[in-house]
Amino acid sequence: MVSNEKVRIGIIGAGNIGNVHMKEFKKLDECTVVAVTDAFPELAQSRAKEHGIPVVHENYKAMLADSQIDAVVVAVPNEMHAPIAIEALESGKHVLLEKPMAFNAASAKDIVRAFLKSQRVLMMAHQMRWEPLNLQVKEQIEKGALGHIYNVKTGWMRRKGIPGWGTWFTQMNKSGGGPLIDIGVHMLDLSLHLMGGAKPVSVFGTTYAEFGPKKRGIGTWGKPDWNGLYDVEDLATALIKMDNGSTLSLDVSWAANTDFIDNQPYIYLMGSEGGASLRAGKGKLHKEVFDRTADIELTVPSVDEGSRVRMSRHFIECIRGGKEPLTSAMSGLTNSLVLEAIYESSRTGQAVTLDWSL
Ligand SMILES: NC(=O)c1ccc[n+]([C@@H]2O[C@H](COP(=O)([O-])OP(=O)(O)OC[C@H]3O[C@@H](n4cnc5c(N)ncnc54)[C@H](O)[C@@H]3O)[C@@H](O)[C@H]2O)c1
Repeated sequence: MVSNEKVRIGIIGAGNIGNVHMKEFKKLDECTVVAVTDAFPELAQSRAKEHGIPVVHENYKAMLADSQIDAVVVAVPNEMHAPIAIEALESGKHVLLEKPMAFNAASAKDIVRAFLKSQRVLMMAHQMRWEPLNLQVKEQIEKGALGHIYNVKTGWMRRKGIPGWGTWFTQMNKSGGGPLIDIGVHMLDLSLHLMGGAKPVSVFGTTYAEFGPKKRGIGTWGKPDWNGLYDVEDLATALIKMDNGSTLSLDVSWAANTDFIDNQPYIYLMGSEGGASLRAGKGKLHKEVFDRTADIELTVPSVDEGSRVRMSRHFIECIRGGKEPLTSAMSGLTNSLVLEAIYESSRTGQAVTLDWSL
């Protein structure tokens, strides 16, 4: 596309996160949200009214046939990511795809194959990469402050945070999993990003479901459907080995009897020259100077436009500049392969080697 034209965006899925995307893209001059669609037309109508979006399409197929749209945001339940993202790429649209890439690794591979044929931008929506402290740590890593990062501990142990009990969120055939695929994917993505080029090779993991099946541990995201189903995990733990010998341990829960790191996301990076800790909105760099330990506190800017707007801008810049996004198709596939290997390891009790064949 001509690089100074406004990118025309359509939003597929007007639920919780679709609504957030509408708000974020509206803040940017370089694009305009021109259409929205949802399986519930009334919801699409009300969002269109709220955000001043001129067109409501009857369904996603009508949106993809609309030549006035350059790019779509896919913000639907996980099982629909692959069919919609593939059709969008085949229709010539650029795609910002919500996480996880797909509800299983086979579907993620289908998306990557469609992407490779498409010559379009496919970007994963992992806004945590654009959070201020995470950007600062990445910058220090790129300057060599940590040296070789050989061990990373990450996770997000929510105490009482099961989203939308009984809805698609807690049904395996719609979501592909519980907290591992929901919030674990963010921590996995961010950790692999900070670890640089390390490529996951094998995984050993276990999942548990102690709260969800008993209708306990319910959080505030999404409305419960008490006639629905809960057949996913509520806690997962895994060790991931990389091709350069480094290791990543990942622990996530929607519900657990713990206040571990105040139930907030965390990453501890241990490198040969230094370390970094990101936890509960605070960040530190660690070093040994002479015979003393030294910590440097990282500061969050008092005024910040926000990670999601930076992520949205990056998507537009990639479309205009024909660039590969930071949260690329291959990064989405990598995350999907690791997640699936953790589920398989839990089922089989064995370590699982990742299958990269496309
Ligand atoms: N990046 C993040 O931090 C983040 C946060 C929350 C959710 N998400 C992801 O966003 C996606 C949506 O989550 P949510 O919380 O908004 O769920 P949601 O249930 O609130 O919204 C999903 C919407 O998709 C609509 N929908 C379903 N099938 C459709 C179809 N075929 N065509 C058009 N619309 C359809 C539903 O009617 C619903 O309104 C999930 O993949 C989730 O993992 C990401």
